[in-house]
Amino acid sequence: MQILNGEKITLGTCYYPEHWDEALWREDLSRMLACGIEVVRIAEFAWNKIEPAEGVYNYDFFDRFLDVAEEAGMKVIMGTPTATPPAWLTEKYPECLNAGIDGTLYRHGLRRHYNYNSPVYRKLCGNIVEHMAGHYGGRSCVIGWQIDNELNCEANEFYSESDTAAFREYLQKKYGSLEKLNEAWGAVFWNQTYTDWKEVYVPRPTVSGGVNPHQTLDYLRFISESTNEFARMQADIIRKYIKEGDFITTNGLFGHVDYQKMAGESIDFITYDSYPNFAYDLNNYSDKDEMKDRKWSRNLTETRAVSRIFGIMEQQSGAGGWNSRMMQSTPRRGQMTLWTMQSIAHGADFVSYFRWRTCTFGTEIYWHGILDYSGRDNRRLAEVGDIYKKVTALREIAGGEYEAAVGVIKDYDNIFDAEYDKWHERIEKQSQKALFETMQKTHTPMDYVYLTEKTGAEDLQKYRILFYPHPAILSGRQAAVLEEYAAKGGILVFGCRSAYKDWNGKCTMEKLPGVIAELTGADIPEYTAIAPDREVMVRWGEETFPAAVFTDLVDCAGTGKQEAVYISGDDAGMGALVSRQVGEGKVYYYGSAFTEGAVRAFLKEACAENPYGNFIAVPEKCEIAVRVKEGIRYIFVLNYSDTPAEITVLEKMRDMYTGKEVSGSLILEGYGTVCLRRSCDR
Ligand code: GAL
Repeated sequence: MQILNGEKITLGTCYYPEHWDEALWREDLSRMLACGIEVVRIAEFAWNKIEPAEGVYNYDFFDRFLDVAEEAGMKVIMGTPTATPPAWLTEKYPECLNAGIDGTLYRHGLRRHYNYNSPVYRKLCGNIVEHMAGHYGGRSCVIGWQIDNELNCEANEFYSESDTAAFREYLQKKYGSLEKLNEAWGAVFWNQTYTDWKEVYVPRPTVSGGVNPHQTLDYLRFISESTNEFARMQADIIRKYIKEGDFITTNGLFGHVDYQKMAGESIDFITYDSYPNFAYDLNNYSDKDEMKDRKWSRNLTETRAVSRIFGIMEQQSGAGGWNSRMMQSTPRRGQMTLWTMQSIAHGADFVSYFRWRTCTFGTEIYWHGILDYSGRDNRRLAEVGDIYKKVTALREIAGGEYEAAVGVIKDYDNIFDAEYDKWHERIEKQSQKALFETMQKTHTPMDYVYLTEKTGAEDLQKYRILFYPHPAILSGRQAAVLEEYAAKGGILVFGCRSAYKDWNGKCTMEKLPGVIAELTGADIPEYTAIAPDREVMVRWGEETFPAAVFTDLVDCAGTGKQEAVYISGDDAGMGALVSRQVGEGKVYYYGSAFTEGAVRAFLKEACAENPYGNFIAVPEKCEIAVRVKEGIRYIFVLNYSDTPAEITVLEKMRDMYTGKEVSGSLILEGYGTVCLRRSCDR
């Protein structure tokens, strides 16, 4: 591959040849190359430029652009244009359109107004992809392909007639008979029993909103499946035509897609679209939000769970805004560099800025790229030049993996379940926020680890401690993999409400915590949401910290050991935490949602907090992220604040930007970053 090949970190930008006079192309590309941009992504919304009428293909426009690119020495990623079906298409085939839950069709005029399940749309998309890949795939400047644009962005629910037809098929395949479907969905409740497949629909408007929860769970799985099928259909076509070494990716990340599956079957790696300036969106700004743009590290952690080394297809480089929504400020001096380094520190070896020039027309007139409307040189362009110098100095890091000894386990069934189950949602949100923010504040790098059908204990063993906050749905197989992880020395922590649902989202009648009762040595005779007028504290040895949202009363059973109790609230004196020695490791069942205090206590217990504290001291407001390659650690320190930060380097290390040895006190200016090189075995 020409990017992500472990040799260097590459910069790119998103370019829209169809927005500009052709006379600008040559100059634009040479200006990009002059500041270190070596790749452009093009064509992802330009269906009409290639197929202006059904079945009429004209390749001239992009041929001319690719000629210019080849002459200039610019590399190109081609996007398939299926996120924006042409007007001729949706007018003739309205069944391709997506609909709102009430059945109203989303009409032409914006983007992503199509559905994945219309057979006509799949065929027409197949045609355009086949023609594009067939024609442009062999061009020497083309180095890879992007499928669609941001699958499931803007709309991640689908309610068209094609979706209902496909949903019925999906369910028929899954259950075989209506009796089984009725059983799985608990349809006897409120007389929902189905007597004909024609009565089964994707969710529709209901009296107080929401539909049968077991139906919803299947519906979300179905959307994910449809999205993946759509991506796979395109990937299979592109693979027939691409040159050896070229790649297929798509840009994300959005809801209702199992990206683990996508990574296994359609794409070579994922690219993420990183817009940290949403933290400074005037419509949603919250002073109380401590993390602000630092939160994007959470998304980058998600991205890394799909591909350890990944790309950024769109990295914010200007103010954000549509004419119809959002108003964001321009990145402050230094923030483009900070956000680029944030991406690289988490595992990006390709960073492409959105976009080169700011469009002077259309919905995104306020979505600024590197250049403003006039295209004149500006300070953001100068900052790209400076970033290029820095990434050149970081070259040897390429291919190095992010280092984390702490993992947070996730899986799509529970992500989907937590989306419509208000109890689950609330505890999950609380815990995920506390886990991420506490790891950030304590300088404890973490990974998200997806538990899929393919995950084995050996994939988990590198983590000293794994949190699996609230897996309401948990299978016996998953429990067995986790048991093996613990038996071999891992520390595993479950939070409240674990293992109380079956695969269809129905509650188990077994004693709680269901399939993990034996593994955890815990018995839960009673549970409650914490009433708004109650505060519940937990005591664990010397530590005292607040519980949040929910409490399971956690008693010991079998070989479990009582570790902590609630010391206030209605259940003061009752069990809050049980542990069990499992082989060489330990399993904990904690009865509440996680708070900062709880996370700190578990990290301390596992000796997992601040693993680099012996050789670098960093204030809480800075993030530490470490990549490792060939026995060398590359330690990034990122200052998200606008004021200087003092860090103390406790032994000599090399500053990668300057090549100089540094030690002692180091001042990072506001939004400043540094990357320090240190051998792993010192
Ligand atoms: C992304 C999208 C781009 C552009 C950008 C700014 O979500 O992929 O095409 O719209 O946001 O809004």
